[in-house]
Amino acid sequence: MSTSLPPEAVDDFRREGFWFPQRIMETDEADRIARRFMAFTDSDEARRYSDPQNQLYLLKAHLLFAWADRICHEPRLLDAVESFIGPDIMVWSSGVFWKAPHSGAHVSWHQDSTNFELEGADGVIRAWVALTPATLANGTMHFLPGAHVNGQIAHVDRKEEGELLSRGETIDLAIDHARTVPVLIEAGEVSFHHLHTPHGSGPNGSDEPRVNYVITFIRPDVRPRVGPDSAMLVRGHDRFGHFEHEPRPDAEFGPQAMRAHRRYLTMRNAILYRGAVLPEPPNHPV
Ligand code: NI
Repeated sequence: MSTSLPPEAVDDFRREGFWFPQRIMETDEADRIARRFMAFTDSDEARRYSDPQNQLYLLKAHLLFAWADRICHEPRLLDAVESFIGPDIMVWSSGVFWKAPHSGAHVSWHQDSTNFELEGADGVIRAWVALTPATLANGTMHFLPGAHVNGQIAHVDRKEEGELLSRGETIDLAIDHARTVPVLIEAGEVSFHHLHTPHGSGPNGSDEPRVNYVITFIRPDVRPRVGPDSAMLVRGHDRFGHFEHEPRPDAEFGPQAMRAHRRYLTMRNAILYRGAVLPEPPNHPV
């Protein structure tokens, strides 16, 4: 059964720059993944990788984690994505953003287009998957509606304490907070936004962690402005060849998966951190 979205949802997205909610998995499945992920961050296994910048799971989680690979191929998610960008779909990036209980971690107001270096913003869609409920108390993401039609707005790098963005890239625009829309969704639901939609999120003031898995889907005709770059084909065909194709993980943290992860993470870091200090990829013990 197809779970594509009604035309009104797509119209809403074009007008507002975002759309939610859509359920893509059951609540208990999302809970299980969130608990498993939180246990991983606190495990000896995670500590083995000497990974101060959380690069194991920030940019290319689908190349290492079986649950991430599964979500990227989930038909209910891909049907919704297809409603926005059509039948040929690649995963350009995917990562876990999480905030500990009562933590000051936050994300400054920004547009995702700022350092992605992708040409063809209308062929890109960000899927923000809630693995725990997203609420006002736990610092959910807010959108500025309708602002995506202005295209790219200038940003300045403002990396501060608690900032989760790699460079602290912050939009150079006064945000009218009375107009912003909070993303209030349940675990197992997803919110979609355009590459040019300004968004930000606050600290988690609740007693539970907030865990989100964020995927950037692209149409294969999107072009990297600088390269080489890579992506994983998850539905349809790539008739353009702009991106090197990433392999699905052979096994969670399997040797082949770790080699691919290191290769494509290094490739992506060279793009995202252009002109800044390049982070060391995690030390995969393979
Ligand atoms: Ni963002």
